[in-house]
Amino acid sequence: MTEEQQQIRDLAREFAEGELRPHADQWDRDAAFPREVIGKLGELGFLGMLIPEQYDGLGLDTATYLVAMEEIARGDASVAVAMSVHNSLPTQMILAHGTEEQKERWLRPMARGEWLGAFSLSEPDAGSDAASMAAHARKTDGGWVLNGAKAWVTNGGVGDVVVTMVRTDTPDARRGAKGIGAFIVPTTTEGYSVGKKEDKMGQRASETVGISFHEMFVPDDQLLGDPSQGFIYALQGLDNGRLGIAALSVGIAQAALEHSLRYADERKQFGNAIRGFQGMQFKLANMATRIEAARALLFRAAAAKDAGEPVSRLSSMAKLFASETAMYVTTEAVQVFGGYGYVKEYPVEKLFRDAKVTEIYEGTSEIQRTVIARELYR
Ligand code: CAA
Repeated sequence: MTEEQQQIRDLAREFAEGELRPHADQWDRDAAFPREVIGKLGELGFLGMLIPEQYDGLGLDTATYLVAMEEIARGDASVAVAMSVHNSLPTQMILAHGTEEQKERWLRPMARGEWLGAFSLSEPDAGSDAASMAAHARKTDGGWVLNGAKAWVTNGGVGDVVVTMVRTDTPDARRGAKGIGAFIVPTTTEGYSVGKKEDKMGQRASETVGISFHEMFVPDDQLLGDPSQGFIYALQGLDNGRLGIAALSVGIAQAALEHSLRYADERKQFGNAIRGFQGMQFKLANMATRIEAARALLFRAAAAKDAGEPVSRLSSMAKLFASETAMYVTTEAVQVFGGYGYVKEYPVEKLFRDAKVTEIYEGTSEIQRTVIARELYR
């Protein structure tokens, strides 16, 4: 790590230990998103890490951002996913495809953490097959009128700005993945409504909602780039997003390992600390080794991204490997704790639940394997 990365890691760690860990269980129990924490993350610059300084961001590289993401997730994965979505998807899509006017207007408050961003691609009937979406935009004077229902939107209610993908083609001239546009939509727009809040297994404090658009007018200057390219922009965004989720997964796994190491040292059975037993040593060694491998793959992908190389394959590999590592490590952590691992009073039960969704959101493990296999033949 560079000196700057170490400083940012320390800052993120201090924040996670002081502001997140002490409250994470309560937020989990209440399924309550700590909006006030977002303001603090913004003050520290964690919501503008990848936004250039000219738009009030920190202009850092991907690797440094991922160092911070791992630490925040080590504190609480629900806060981390809100941070990941904001940093990797809407802001990066505006940065990559927005006009200068759009960047000035939207990125500054988002970089400062005054506006929290969301990303809306999925629909109730269009998950892995995202291009089969049905929500649509009808061209009208000076803008577009959006109608339809979207699903699984992180920050869709508590957030301020959503980048949403909807069809811009017409029913009699469907263009598949090339008939979708990306729109920048404030959540206060007339016709924007927040539906069901999901009652989730894990990452319960992050807000996941359905949203719907009813005759929602969006002016032309809130269309991002080319109205037929929104799906491509979203997939490019997900190349970034999946790196964030990979770092988040490593953070969950690292937390589970640390709790396990401490517990195996303190817990005595048969007259000895259980860490003295070979069965326990093998577990702890496997957990630590997989975490190091996941982190190494993640930083290999980050280096490729920062060097401007194509990153889809490595990003999917990092997300796949890190999320399955998080699930493996947290499952083993529950086993290390025995009965105490299965109850809410001890920390690994929550980490186990928090890990599961990393194999699902921003593309399931099966979709990551599909992307990797396709890229191998490209
Ligand atoms: N970057 C740029 N372009 C890309 C691309 C990428 N990473 N991947 C594909 N494309 C291009 C393709 O080249 C193609 O263009 P051409 O026809 O010109 O070659 C076009 O995009 C369409 O691609 P595909 O034909 O591959 O599209 P597809 O319909 O077969 O789908 C998929 C591909 C990989 C399955 C994709 O749909 C996918 O990733 N699905 C999973 C969706 C997902 O991750 N959803 C998560 C939503 S967000 C979330 O989880 C909630 C949250 O808030 C955390």
